[in-house]
Amino acid sequence: MTPPPALTIDSATRHYAGTRAPAVDGVSITVEAGEFLALLGPSGCGKSTLLRMIAGFERLDSGRVAVGGRPMSGPGLHVPPEERRIGLVFQSYALWPHMTVAGNVAYPLETAGVAKPERAERVAAALATVGLDGFDTRRPAELSGGQRQRVALARCLVMRPELVLLDEPLANLDVHLRASMEEEFASFHARTGATMVYVTHDQAEAMALATRIAVLDQGRLAQLAAPRDLYREPATPMVAGFVGQGALVPATVTGPATHGRAPVRLLGVDAVLRVRPGEEPGEALVCLRPEDLEPAPDGPLEVRIARAAYKGGFVLVEAVPAGGGPRLVLRLPGHTHPVAGESLRLAIRDGWVVPEADALNPARG
Ligand SMILES: Nc1ncnc2c1ncn2[C@@H]1O[C@H](COP(=O)(O)OP(=O)(O)OP(=O)(O)O)[C@@H](O)[C@H]1O
Ligand SMILES: [Mg+2]
Repeated sequence: MTPPPALTIDSATRHYAGTRAPAVDGVSITVEAGEFLALLGPSGCGKSTLLRMIAGFERLDSGRVAVGGRPMSGPGLHVPPEERRIGLVFQSYALWPHMTVAGNVAYPLETAGVAKPERAERVAAALATVGLDGFDTRRPAELSGGQRQRVALARCLVMRPELVLLDEPLANLDVHLRASMEEEFASFHARTGATMVYVTHDQAEAMALATRIAVLDQGRLAQLAAPRDLYREPATPMVAGFVGQGALVPATVTGPATHGRAPVRLLGVDAVLRVRPGEEPGEALVCLRPEDLEPAPDGPLEVRIARAAYKGGFVLVEAVPAGGGPRLVLRLPGHTHPVAGESLRLAIRDGWVVPEADALNPARG
């Protein structure tokens, strides 16, 4: 028998009173045990609401939530948060300032009535897991932001939750700390095998950490896929624009699809690009990533450089097609010195025909 999924969200909807549209609208996601799922999307798309629905802080208007196969929310059912065995880490980590690090981590165990010797053992283990052994007697004020965040993580882990929910846990930290905490989360996940649902509006963070990413767009699930698939094959124009760099270019699919590719005319150039199975000829939008565009002396596409920014190792270039069209993004080698106003010839090496938004959701029209 296969174990039940760590988390099942089935058509979950939450419409706050007095608002025009649901904050979370018919979202269905199944998370397998040990997965690291990122919930990604712009501000206000419903990430925190969905997380609070999973945790039990928010009731569902319709739909169901189950954790480890056990129903938690559904028609006539609402298991309170403290009975869900879910660990929570929020952006504002709310440690008790008057308690030591060990005291903070021990607190939920005390509340749960765990005996003192076991408490001490579990606190020590949790602090070791987040790399804070030896910090037991410090107070939160004597810690860096990242260390405080790790205390919050230890406090969550000490309860041995089956499922850990994190809402923008790195949002308050500076760039360097974010990078090192990102590593901490990744190695923590690898070590413990805990199932994690991680809310972020930072697509790079989601890409770096997640086994799969759920992109929310105005309360709806726009796509649920592994980072590579999300980047290579965005399901909607919104996902294409939100995840990774690149451009969305109006195009025409000029022939039938074979072996995952079809002939496409875009920016006055004929190319053979990646399409989903069954893509029909007709108007389309193409997602061009920086690596899809290659400088070539006899390339068919002429562009004018609008902006060039040295990024260390490469130069990030924004360029406008000479014949008109949206701004393209490409990378040139770090030893070159591209200058705004210069012309450049490009070859279109690859690209992805973004599926029609309504083709994906025929029921919604
Ligand atoms: N308690 C509430 N009452 C009414 N509307 C709310 C409430 N909480 C959130 N909303 C609205 O629901 C929508 C989703 O909010 P939510 O906090 O889930 O977004 P989010 O994706 O977490 O955004 P952010 O990235 O800014 O944290 C927003 O339009 C928000 O204004
Ligand atoms: Mg939020």
